[in-house]
Amino acid sequence: MYTRRNKLFSKLSSTFLRKWWFVIAFSLCLIILGVLVTFGFSAIVNLVIDHQVALRPGGQSFGWWAKPPVTPAVRVYVYNVTNADEFLNNGSKPILDELGPYVYREKWEKVNIVENPNGTISFNQKKVYAFSEEESVGMEDDVVIVPNIPMLSATSQSKHAARFLRLAMASIMDILKIKPFVEVTVGQLLWGYEDPLLKLAKDVVPKEQKLPYDEFGLFYGKNATSSDRVTMFTGVDDITQYGVIDKYNGRSHMTNWLKEECNRLNGSDGSIFPPHITHNTTLYVYEKDLCRLLPLNFEKEVTGRGGIPGYRFTPSPDVFASVDKNPDNLCYCPSGPPCAPHGLFNVSLCQYDSPVLISFPHFYMADDSLRTAVEGISPPEKDKHQFFIDVQPLMGTTLRARARVQINLAVSQVQDIKQVANFPDIVFPILWFEEGVEGLPDEVVNLMRIATTVPDKARTALMIALFTLGVLLFIVSVTCLVRKSHRQNTLHLDGSNYLAAQHIDQQKKKAKMDNGNKSN
Ligand SMILES: *[C@@H]1O[C@H](CO)[C@@H](O)[C@H](O)[C@H]1NC(C)=O
Ligand SMILES: *[C@@H]1O[C@H](CO)[C@@H](O)[C@H](O)[C@H]1NC(C)=O
Ligand SMILES: *[C@@H]1O[C@H](CO)[C@@H](O)[C@H](O)[C@H]1NC(C)=O
Ligand SMILES: *[C@@H]1O[C@H](CO)[C@@H](O)[C@H](O)[C@H]1NC(C)=O
Ligand SMILES: *[C@@H]1O[C@H](CO)[C@@H](O)[C@H](O)[C@H]1NC(C)=O
Ligand SMILES: *[C@@H]1O[C@H](CO)[C@@H](O)[C@H](O)[C@H]1NC(C)=O
Ligand SMILES: *[C@@H]1O[C@H](CO)[C@@H](O)[C@H](O)[C@H]1NC(C)=O
Repeated sequence: MYTRRNKLFSKLSSTFLRKWWFVIAFSLCLIILGVLVTFGFSAIVNLVIDHQVALRPGGQSFGWWAKPPVTPAVRVYVYNVTNADEFLNNGSKPILDELGPYVYREKWEKVNIVENPNGTISFNQKKVYAFSEEESVGMEDDVVIVPNIPMLSATSQSKHAARFLRLAMASIMDILKIKPFVEVTVGQLLWGYEDPLLKLAKDVVPKEQKLPYDEFGLFYGKNATSSDRVTMFTGVDDITQYGVIDKYNGRSHMTNWLKEECNRLNGSDGSIFPPHITHNTTLYVYEKDLCRLLPLNFEKEVTGRGGIPGYRFTPSPDVFASVDKNPDNLCYCPSGPPCAPHGLFNVSLCQYDSPVLISFPHFYMADDSLRTAVEGISPPEKDKHQFFIDVQPLMGTTLRARARVQINLAVSQVQDIKQVANFPDIVFPILWFEEGVEGLPDEVVNLMRIATTVPDKARTALMIALFTLGVLLFIVSVTCLVRKSHRQNTLHLDGSNYLAAQHIDQQKKKAKMDNGNKSN
């Protein structure tokens, strides 16, 4: 009788109870999975993003990088000098008239792409500019009066040369009828005009020395495939180097500046940055004409086209500060002190020794005395004159950019050259421009939106689903288990009573039968 009862008990526990133990284990698994999703999902998504953005030939991001699906535009504002004669003869302040914008639509492409085995890629940047009449205020053939940059560069440089050289220069300029201001069209000022001084220099000066052109233009030679060979990290091996320049024309450092830190050029070209950007990240942009890395810091969160979240990065206010305000800038002043005034950056060494100083438009973040030394430049406004880049922080893609720069000429007064004897020491603004990138195509925007919003939503949904299902199942199975095991206890007792009763019945029947048999 006892062995029978035990068998029954084990049978019950295996069929009913074990089922519920299994459900409990399953619900616990769901909860653990929920915890994993909570903490590990972003890591997985990041891995996927890193894999997707890295530049692999044939990949989608590679295609977008090689031939960006955007039409950037450069907007140029020229400072037309309206009182050149009074300025030279009567010592009045120069009066400038800001003209423009003259808008050029650009087409970018990377050419001669070669993949290297060490996780880098080499290429040349090709840019083609087309004048956009509809967007411009004014025409390319508008005539403007601007300082004669080649001449004033030559005279300013001759300041420390022997006196007879300066006198010789003066007579040459006399013969060639070179004047301190030139009348050129906007197109010429940008894309080049024949300059008698450069032509002469080219004929006279030995070949190895500087000045490879006989034309002068501020964007001269830019409407073409650049001869600069860039080697850049693809991010396939190391995503933290994604888009960072490894070598520029075979060099990993510049040689102009005093410290290795200032000679670094391992920045990005401004279109892509190492992904997973935080508020604390500093982005570095390398632009050859700027002659240095431009560090950009987080300013604020913005919303890009299609509701894509972005971070706005801008240069810190002390990036072009004078050395007494930012001693770190001392390394950019190899021949100083004195160094460049507050808010100006001396790019002379990258511009064939021309005394060119870079600033932000309207002398934004510079000493106000620079702006008021001339007439006609309105006070700088952040919205119009700030340099910024909006990036998508997860992927490091630039959503929108305004690379705004003003070109100024630092003229030194040279008494011995009669043509410029009255040209005072002054920082003369020539023009400013903004290179703008905007309007990523829908295809890219949609993909970004998916990549930025879907993982978060999926994570939340998965988390909620896993936790509720897990917890629900757990509660249900535990209560059921408790109830069932209780019921099974009673069932067990009932059953044994029933069986016992049956047994007694049977015994009774048997006895009866025996009795009957006996009586029969
Ligand atoms: C630039 O200034 C000069 C001198 O005042 C003037 O003759 C010329 O028309 C101006 N150019 C434009 C495009 O306004
Ligand atoms: C220079 O100033 C004098 C008097 O101050 C004036 O007569 C003359 O017209 C001015 N010259 C020019 C080019 O404006
Ligand atoms: C990668 O390879 C290229 C081409 O061989 C070379 O120019 C570059 O210096 C290499 N870069 C690194 C980081 O090894
Ligand atoms: C740039 O070059 C293209 C041809 O390569 C030419 O059609 C275009 O007019 C040029 N743009 C400018 C602004 O000179
Ligand atoms: C550039 O190189 C320096 C060391 O030379 C390194 O500290 C820095 O992180 C690098 N910058 C980037 C953007 O990789
Ligand atoms: C940024 O840096 C500050 C201080 O250096 C730190 O408190 C903060 O947690 C950092 N934020 C992020 C997002 O890393
Ligand atoms: C700019 O730099 C060059 C070369 O270092 C130097 O000769 C010149 O004096 C500097 N100009 C200014 C305005 O600091």
